[in-house]
Amino acid sequence: MEARFVLLSGDGIGPEIVSQAERVLRWIGKRFGHAFEFSEHLIGGIAIDTCGDPLPQETVDACKASTAVLLGAVGGPKWDDPNAKTRPEAGLLRIRKELGLFANLRPITAYPELVDASPLKREIVEGTDILFFRELTGGIYFGPYSCEDLPGGGQRATSTEVYETYEVERIFRLAAEAARKRRGKLTMVDKANVLEASRLWRRVCAKIAKEEYSDLEYDVVLVDSMAMHLISRPRSFDVVVTSNMFGDILTDEASMLPGSLGMLPSASIGSSGPGLYEPIHGSAPDIAGKGVANPLATILAAAMMLRHSCSLEKEAVAIETAVKKVLADGHRTADIAAAGATKIGTIAMTDKVLAALESA
Ligand code: IPM
Ligand code: MG
Repeated sequence: MEARFVLLSGDGIGPEIVSQAERVLRWIGKRFGHAFEFSEHLIGGIAIDTCGDPLPQETVDACKASTAVLLGAVGGPKWDDPNAKTRPEAGLLRIRKELGLFANLRPITAYPELVDASPLKREIVEGTDILFFRELTGGIYFGPYSCEDLPGGGQRATSTEVYETYEVERIFRLAAEAARKRRGKLTMVDKANVLEASRLWRRVCAKIAKEEYSDLEYDVVLVDSMAMHLISRPRSFDVVVTSNMFGDILTDEASMLPGSLGMLPSASIGSSGPGLYEPIHGSAPDIAGKGVANPLATILAAAMMLRHSCSLEKEAVAIETAVKKVLADGHRTADIAAAGATKIGTIAMTDKVLAALESA
């Protein structure tokens, strides 16, 4: 097939890891006979520095015209001033909105070889396999907000959580479809004992679950309990669906289950058009430019991109199998290495993945 991929490296370790994922994609293109084209565009802090805008129009246009987008990471201390006119993160939020990427899929898989890298006990973590569906273009992230000076001094600031029925319905159905293809379990997380928007989620999801997905095992969990259950009994969850902010928080928590953020990819998709694929981790400014970052999350994000945006299942599986082999063979970057173990760098790790692909 022909595909045009936009690469948005962004900041920090972004360029190092995206260029490695590009190597893997080029290998796949060649081996499986696909015409993959790549173009690079600016987002985040580097875009602010270059043209004063974390998401230049030129980048938006390129993304919209692409088959799919592979993103590294945005942000860093250089752009962290809370009073700054614009921030790198604004670019990420806007590209999600521009492309209509309302569903953020975050798989949390505990690789058997890495279980001991988790801060949690082996008995708890082993066998964890959760797929989060985080709503990505609504809720408190995009609701009305304000900040005003009060006459007596001080300020009043607001951020509002807004959801409409259709926004809940469409992500819930995607999550339910995924649950059907997995272990048939679907958990919806909200705060319906306090928040009105959560009560809407509760009603809308209950109705669809009953009318359209009665074959699934469906339950609801309050977000505060979920924070607890996630680390006490992660194996009992299959597909989890939740709002934008709850999903943001819970997926960071869940990312500790497999041991390292450096292993976790994510996919953001809409009802049509290009999807956006990225590692869950951030720009890791502390290790940027040192060649030690783990490229596997981005390489796995590239696999998700082939699966979801190109329907190239075989190719996606080839990459995922190669990553598993590399781990089974004991190759580790610093973030997933046991104390005293040999560590390899970003490029060497990618070399191992390419060698595993070659020998498959
Ligand atoms: C994430 C990140 C972003 C978010 C930030 C960088 C805006 O934390 O993708 O989870 O909050 O959505
Ligand atoms: Mg986050």
